[in-house]
Amino acid sequence: MSVNWNWCFVLFFLIFSTPFSFLVDARSQSFDYPTAKLSTKWVNSPSAPHSVAFTDGSTVRAILLRGTFGPRYACGFFCNGACDTYLFAVFIVQTNSASSIVAPAIGFPQVVWAANRNNPVRINATLELTSRGNLVL
Ligand SMILES: *[C@@H]1O[C@H](CO)[C@@H](O)[C@H](O)[C@H]1NC(C)=O
Repeated sequence: MSVNWNWCFVLFFLIFSTPFSFLVDARSQSFDYPTAKLSTKWVNSPSAPHSVAFTDGSTVRAILLRGTFGPRYACGFFCNGACDTYLFAVFIVQTNSASSIVAPAIGFPQVVWAANRNNPVRINATLELTSRGNLVL
């Protein structure tokens, strides 16, 4: 399915809600949350980076995370329970000073928005930011 201005809005909100601090952060980042170049694909793979399993049964695979140290917004794949299906979602996770997701025993992810809730995806689903600027799940 090809989508969707809502996703673009959410990503733009995440990236540009404080544009100057984001630019400064991006240059000084010593951690590995890559910036997205066109076109970029992310795969919902267990071996993907920034994949964290929590003791409440949820798992996140963050592809974009904004900020360091404390509760921060991220987007990526999310599941809870059996984890045979996943949502592409925006969620809040606890991070450390290196922007790694931490506290899997207590700091459970809080989903604030999800794409196509009634139509979740599976392992190996891909999210692509195309060369034309569309975000396709
Ligand atoms: C996902 O892709 C990997 C690599 O291509 C493959 O080994 C694995 O079997 C796939 N998993 C599922 C559930 O399709």
